[in-house]
Amino acid sequence: MQIFKSSPEISDYLKSLHNGQTVGFVPTMGALHSGHSALVERSVAENDITICSIFVNPLQFNRKEDLDTYPDRMQADIDLLEDLNCHILFNPSKEDIYSDESRLTYDFGSIGKGMEAEYRPGHFEGVAEVIHRFFNILKPTRAYFGEKDYQQLAIVRWLTEKYAHSTEIVGCETIRDKSGLAMSSRNYNLSAEEYEKASDIFKTLSYCRDNKGSFQPQELAKICFDMLSVDFRPEYFTIADQFTMEPLKEWTDSEYPRAFVAAYCGNVRLIDNLSLITNKNEK
Ligand code: PAF
Repeated sequence: MQIFKSSPEISDYLKSLHNGQTVGFVPTMGALHSGHSALVERSVAENDITICSIFVNPLQFNRKEDLDTYPDRMQADIDLLEDLNCHILFNPSKEDIYSDESRLTYDFGSIGKGMEAEYRPGHFEGVAEVIHRFFNILKPTRAYFGEKDYQQLAIVRWLTEKYAHSTEIVGCETIRDKSGLAMSSRNYNLSAEEYEKASDIFKTLSYCRDNKGSFQPQELAKICFDMLSVDFRPEYFTIADQFTMEPLKEWTDSEYPRAFVAAYCGNVRLIDNLSLITNKNEK
């Protein structure tokens, strides 16, 4: 695997590739886990060249403490990427990516209101800024994102269309451990006891899906929030349309209802989501 640390170097290298070679891109902040492995594997299978980036983007952290405690496992990450036959690791510095002070302003509309946008002010502006810059440097054919960060995926799709990036955005199913806990780099910061408890988040999402028939959306969301409050500090439990991210008052408000949750388990903030469509043609 080749490791690039500078954007001019990687972009020169990519320009030297044969025309028609496809480039798959998996952006990450490191502390890789099996969710990331699934994205890299899919990219390796679908493209001639796969680039994984590891860049802890300071712009998307609204709490300094969160940035400071973000797990760093560089050597383990490199070993994993080698095993997955990833071709290139792009690991730029902050100075490289943000060499200029200019920032775009974004109006995401309804997808940029509520949930993560509400509880992490500036977070999506930071995600959009870094992805926009990465797409300009790498011009990937396809880019792979996990559905665990569902609202982020909607933001990335919006950004790609708005700025006419030629990259195809590939959303990939959330990878869960045996207990249902969604894979996340933040799980590395959970104690053994917290790790065990954390699977209740998925259990609550599943309860929500299974009890759709018995309550109106906001009533059900409140029940789930209260269930989580016993062992977690939930920030939100929201049932929203999975495209507009607008919370539902009635089930008839959306054909694609999805439950979204953010909750602190100890000091670790976890997020997850689940489609509430239960028929066979589930999207
Ligand atoms: O999901 C993440 O890890 C980050 O938000 C991303 C997409 C790598 C942008 O920094």
